[in-house]
Amino acid sequence: MEKKELIYEGKAKKVFATDDPELVIVSYKDDATAFNGLKKGTIAGKGVVNNRMSNMLMRLLAKKGVPTHYVEELSDRDTLVKRVKIVPLEVIVRNVSAGSFAKRYGVEEGIPFDRPTIEFSYKCDALDDPLINSYHARALKLATDEEIATIEKYAFRVNDVLKEFFAELGVRLIDFKLEFGRLADGKIVLADEISPDTCRFWDAKTNEKLDKDRFRRDLGGVEDAYKEIFARVTKELDETEKTCKTCKQENK
Ligand code: TMP
Repeated sequence: MEKKELIYEGKAKKVFATDDPELVIVSYKDDATAFNGLKKGTIAGKGVVNNRMSNMLMRLLAKKGVPTHYVEELSDRDTLVKRVKIVPLEVIVRNVSAGSFAKRYGVEEGIPFDRPTIEFSYKCDALDDPLINSYHARALKLATDEEIATIEKYAFRVNDVLKEFFAELGVRLIDFKLEFGRLADGKIVLADEISPDTCRFWDAKTNEKLDKDRFRRDLGGVEDAYKEIFARVTKELDETEKTCKTCKQENK
């Protein structure tokens, strides 16, 4: 499948058309921004890490019953995905206080919650992605009742699967952001990416940050943090995927 015209360029990815109107190619860049584009930089190798890690996690989630846009990894930076219309909501799930939650409610970072929380932001750069509740989302016709129920169900399922998966790698999944899209037939699927750009990962022993907060907060060691989390995920999933491939060969 070849890249045709550029359809869209975002802060961290480009999207290209293909010969098939229902498929597009996402191409991951090393560009990094924070605070709605106010802070800009480059994280060498980030595009490769985010592309490959997001694909591994999407394959895992698909096996666990969460439908996704993922079709096929084409190269280190390029992936074929189903074309969707993005639901303009950032869906944020939290297990531990951090980031805007800690700031907004005046609590320390690092307090574990008894139960995960969910919140939505309205995806609108001009308004700085404001926090929005599900009633407002319905009033603005961003999504229907049924779509919001489906999105919440999938988001908590993603949390259950990934929290357990990362715990095995010695990583605490603090919080993360998801985006969902509608396929041509209206079906809701998980879209965008799941990567150190969109999740907070803390080392379980040291609480060292292994995610984009190192860039947002000028903590240094940004590239190494991306490499470290990627190495842990690859080690775990490559082995599982190798086993599956072996099984398939044995079954032939
Ligand atoms: P927050 O605490 O800043 O609201 O971030 C919550 C999670 O969402 C965190 O894992 C980082 C991720 N996130 C994005 O993916 N994109 C964004 O634009 C923002 C603000 C956060």
